Amino acid sequence: MDKLLINGGRRLEGEVRISGAKNAVLPIMAAALLTSGTCVIKNVPRLDDVSVMLSVLQELSVRSSWHKDVLRLDCAHVSPVAPSPEILGQIRASNLILGPLLGRFKEAEIGACGGCSIGCRPMNLHFAALEALGSKILPLETGYFAFAKSLQGNVVHLAFPSVGATENLIMAAVLAEGRTVLHNAAAEPEIVDLAGFINTMGGKISGAGSNVITIDGVKKLNGAEYTVMPDRIETGTFLVAGAMCGGSLRLSGARAEHNTALLAAMQQAGISCTYSMPNVNERFEEESFITLHGGGRPRPLQVVTASYPGFPTDMQPQLTAMLSLAQGRSSICESIFENRLAFAKELKKMGATIQTQDNCAIIDGVAKLNGAVVKAMDLRAGAALALAGLAAQGRTVIEQAAYIDRGYEDFVGKLSSLGADITRLSKQSEQGKQIKKITTANNCRLVV
Ligand code: EPZ
Repeated sequence: MDKLLINGGRRLEGEVRISGAKNAVLPIMAAALLTSGTCVIKNVPRLDDVSVMLSVLQELSVRSSWHKDVLRLDCAHVSPVAPSPEILGQIRASNLILGPLLGRFKEAEIGACGGCSIGCRPMNLHFAALEALGSKILPLETGYFAFAKSLQGNVVHLAFPSVGATENLIMAAVLAEGRTVLHNAAAEPEIVDLAGFINTMGGKISGAGSNVITIDGVKKLNGAEYTVMPDRIETGTFLVAGAMCGGSLRLSGARAEHNTALLAAMQQAGISCTYSMPNVNERFEEESFITLHGGGRPRPLQVVTASYPGFPTDMQPQLTAMLSLAQGRSSICESIFENRLAFAKELKKMGATIQTQDNCAIIDGVAKLNGAVVKAMDLRAGAALALAGLAAQGRTVIEQAAYIDRGYEDFVGKLSSLGADITRLSKQSEQGKQIKKITTANNCRLVV
């Protein structure tokens, strides 16, 4: 796997453009399966997870072309065959083909999906929601088979506001008969983007972005053109990089209204950010921005991750890295995933003082981190270790750095353009880059 070599201690200065959101483009790609038309998706980031999702769609006979950041998906010849487990098993988001295949074909057979080993990540909430519309989910040796004579709208309640379960339910209900009202839905901005895309196809979805989403079933959906929202987690990752390294950053395309919890935490930590006010009526991402003026040690914080609009779990590792340099004791509790603090032991190799217990980390800030050889165990942990390396004294080598490529477009290029001394070792050539087999330790059985 690729490694990153970082010589730390340099300030970051300049401007980077935030790419399209990984966690919005993946469900939007899956939603294209809902139509026999052609979809044109813009602002698509060059990420390994997007490449894997495209391979999944191609196994379903989607015809595609991907030029720069524009992805065309022709779904006229789609058939609900079971994609190969080797590909499905590489990303968690492969489970998002379940809803659209059920919605359009009333059947779907898929194997166990993959995903970072940050927790067990079962599918019970997805299955309960889809069964509430009248489908049956049968466990198979290698995964499960879902089918339905017809899908009927219903009132559905999610026991937990699962992002993926919300997305699968929306994509099945949009072609069901009648109205579905989903309670305790996830309210993440990526859900709003998915609903926006499906409504552009002719869907009738309201309430996305709140915890009650109403979907009125329609007979057919058409091909559509859509521009993906900017990535709020990439935005947060670069903000934390600026806070840890010092310097001045401008993140063009970033949307402050998607990052309110992080911006509040940064303000509390004494780090000043300015940003364009959200224009809630239009989608002027190009004119939106966030700037940060970093420097000095942050004040300590007490943070608990939560579903949106709470502090995002996908920013927990990066904030943990930042708080390892705070002037005092901080705590950060992970309430979404049961194994997302495992990377703390890698941070401790760099001199961080962290004790973890019951999914909480107590962090006693130190004045400086030291470079070390550390291992990325998942996407966001890898990014967090890179930020620590950028701020540390000396040289850091990050092993298994390919995890970072799953969720950050041109991570090395963007940081280098800001003055970071970061290089990739044993990079595979872009041309003919094989879909890497990213194994995960996610060996939990699916319980239905
Ligand atoms: C999405 O994962 C994101 N991935 C994750 O981002 C993100 O961390 C997560 O939402 C929470 O915000 C994509 O959008 C591709 P969940 P998802 O269903 O949908 C439990 C990243 O780094 N759960 O909201 O898989 C689950 O185990 C990735 O970009 C069940 O118990 O997350 C977890 O503890 C990591 N049963 C919690 O709910 C279920 O059926 C939240 O999961 C489903 C989920």
